Amino acid sequence: MRSIDSHTGLLGLIGDPVNHSKSPDMMNAALAEMGAPYVYLAFRVVPTELKEAIQGFKALDVQGWNVTIPHKVAIMEYLDGLDETAREIGAVNTVVKQDGKWIGYNTDGAGYLRSLQEQHSLPLTEQRVVILGAGGAARAVGYALAAAGVSSIAIANRTIVKAEELAHHLSRHTQTKAVAMADCQSEIKKATLIINTTSVGMVPDTEATPIPVEWLNADQLVSDLVYHPRMTTLLQAAEAKGAAIHTGEGMLLHQAALALELWLDAPAPVGVMRQVLEVALT
Ligand code: ATR
Repeated sequence: MRSIDSHTGLLGLIGDPVNHSKSPDMMNAALAEMGAPYVYLAFRVVPTELKEAIQGFKALDVQGWNVTIPHKVAIMEYLDGLDETAREIGAVNTVVKQDGKWIGYNTDGAGYLRSLQEQHSLPLTEQRVVILGAGGAARAVGYALAAAGVSSIAIANRTIVKAEELAHHLSRHTQTKAVAMADCQSEIKKATLIINTTSVGMVPDTEATPIPVEWLNADQLVSDLVYHPRMTTLLQAAEAKGAAIHTGEGMLLHQAALALELWLDAPAPVGVMRQVLEVALT
């Protein structure tokens, strides 16, 4: 067991709520495996106290922290700088102290891409992608895929204006289109990779799917960011049709591993983190 003493540093997570977060389990197991002299704690911070919480972290010289809902956008104004990816995505999930400055990063998109490539060897530049949803997760995944050179991205969202905004934003990197979720059948039919970034299908409403499953076909890869349950109704239906599937816990794992690598400048023990996450999710 690791000893905690006067040399132990602090890493952490701020969000609201944080009590179901799997990050402390994964991060502390990884820190122990690496022999790194840190502990990682989850702090519930309400939006009205965000500024004070960050001032406190700075005063205590916390080495870095993760940021989750609802602070990923609001935190940006309190930092000294943003990495280019965080600026493009417009949200921060990891803060790193570098040369005395607090810099915001976003590892969600790169974490998604690592997970996708770990499970499927896809020629990314040949993919015609449909992203279901246009919120923060869609922005991160969309930017990562666009920067990786996918051939096209259609954004399908319940609220079309948000789909248009994201499609416009990504159009600097790839061919894009915006459609209403209810009208995206022809885009789905043409797609090689379909990604659900909405919360539809998450516990407790596990029967729900973001699109009718009849629209899917066997030649596609269907990816769902929902990880509770891991096999969503969307993925079950895709698999039953003979399509390939990609489950959501991999993004959770790899965005955490990438954050750890930013803080400690050393490879994260992904195998240990994966084991801990699997136990935490059962
Ligand atoms: P996140 O950071 O997880 O992406 P978010 O920014 O709140 O969360 O975005 C949630 C996304 O899920 C949005 O695209 C939202 O659609 P709207 O823009 O129309 O609100 C989508 N979403 C959430 N619940 C949905 C539902 N029941 N049906 C369809 N889309 C839904």
